[in-house]
Amino acid sequence: VGEVVQRFFHRFIPSVLTILAVVAYLFYLNGILTLTTLVIAPLMGALISWFGDRLLLRSRLNQESMSDLSSLLTEAFAGISLTRAFAAEEYEIRRFSAMAENNRLARFQTEQVKAIQDPVVGFLYAMSVLGVFWVGGWQISEGNLTGSQFLGFIAGVAMLIDPIVHITNNYSELKQGEASVERIFELLDTRSQVRELPGARPMPPIQGWVEFEQVSFAYKPDQPVLKRISFQVAPGEIVALVGSSGAGKSTLVNLIPRFYDPQEGCIRIDGIDIRTVTLKSLRRQIGIVPQEITLFSGTIASNIAYGQEDFDLEAVRQAARVANIDSFIESLPDGYATRVGERGVTLSGGQRQRLAIARALLLNPKILILDEATSALDNESEALVQEALQRLMQRCTVFVIAHRLSTVRSAHRIFVLEQGQLLEEGNHRELLSKGGRYAQFHWRQFQ
Ligand SMILES: Nc1ncnc2c1ncn2[C@@H]1O[C@H](COP(=O)(O)OP(=O)(O)OP(=O)(O)O)[C@@H](O)[C@H]1O
Ligand SMILES: [Mg+2]
Repeated sequence: VGEVVQRFFHRFIPSVLTILAVVAYLFYLNGILTLTTLVIAPLMGALISWFGDRLLLRSRLNQESMSDLSSLLTEAFAGISLTRAFAAEEYEIRRFSAMAENNRLARFQTEQVKAIQDPVVGFLYAMSVLGVFWVGGWQISEGNLTGSQFLGFIAGVAMLIDPIVHITNNYSELKQGEASVERIFELLDTRSQVRELPGARPMPPIQGWVEFEQVSFAYKPDQPVLKRISFQVAPGEIVALVGSSGAGKSTLVNLIPRFYDPQEGCIRIDGIDIRTVTLKSLRRQIGIVPQEITLFSGTIASNIAYGQEDFDLEAVRQAARVANIDSFIESLPDGYATRVGERGVTLSGGQRQRLAIARALLLNPKILILDEATSALDNESEALVQEALQRLMQRCTVFVIAHRLSTVRSAHRIFVLEQGQLLEEGNHRELLSKGGRYAQFHWRQFQ
């Protein structure tokens, strides 16, 4: 797009101005001759725009196949270990070849249109020159034009050729550029489904009350994931969510920081409907350790203090100590300045989890969400993190999704989720004596 815009100013506009000036001069020399020259102009115009439309269509296909190809490549490199593990190299190569062939074809067809356009337009130029000479000779013999004026006229027409060629080329480039612009705006115009209300206020400092009232949610219209969930959680309470895989645990906790909005019902924090406050003020007060942890390339300290430009290293250390990763970080050659990511050290699953816990703790959140945050820890470090969380839990409301009994048992309340419904609710002892779904789950894991 940048290239097209640049050419537009450097070539297109000067060309148009030159044409206007020269045509005015030609009219001054001889009207009939100029009109003859210009008879061909609309024909040319129609022809150029006909080619332009075809080019636009081809360029669009071209751009789409190019973006398919690059996403395939990105995926292929990101998943290279999986490809090896499944001995699927041949399969990936075939997929790539097919898509590359698609792209080649799309490009080829674009070039085809251009290749036909050039000679056709060029031929018409030649014809128009011939016509001009013929009419010019006639006008001279009639005495309407002198020989030197005709020479001036021919010089004028010759001056027109370059700008017209530029405009033709620029026109097709503009059409190609249009296809790029369309794709860019398609992306820019994508609106997030979660929108801030026009008059949204900032969320006041959170106490930690969380209330779900008849909340129903579906990712796709006809497949409900959460069905009329209602509960109330008090500040400082630890709630464990248990249930089989796909029951909707992650979905439920993701509604609290408004990653999605429920289709029905209402979620309140400290009695305030979360749809009425600004997203930033809400999310900044909620700590999340997600199921899948992302580390950014940069230092360990900047990863823990993610999103903060100048951070207090002492606070980072404090958070790392609570998450029980401090001693590991200190053991690295560069300590907190050690780089992670593509060009740095690689952390194990458990180390990543503890780092993510430290990241969430640094925000000093009043609501903490742990989605399987302790699953990759060994028993000993889990016990240490557990202990740290206990300390923290006196200060904030915690939602923890866990499969481990030790984590679940210490929760104040346990929610059993089954196919999007809140099946049972109570503490460990209550649920065991009830002998329902949780008891079943518990005994199965215990034996
Ligand atoms: N982004 C998404 N788009 C569409 N469907 C989704 C999306 N995320 C989850 N789902 C579907 O919603 C249902 C609940 O998923 P969810 O991730 O909440 O389960 P979960 O209880 O956290 O499971 P697990 O214990 O395996 O993490 C599943 O059927 C899943 O296929
Ligand atoms: Mg989950």
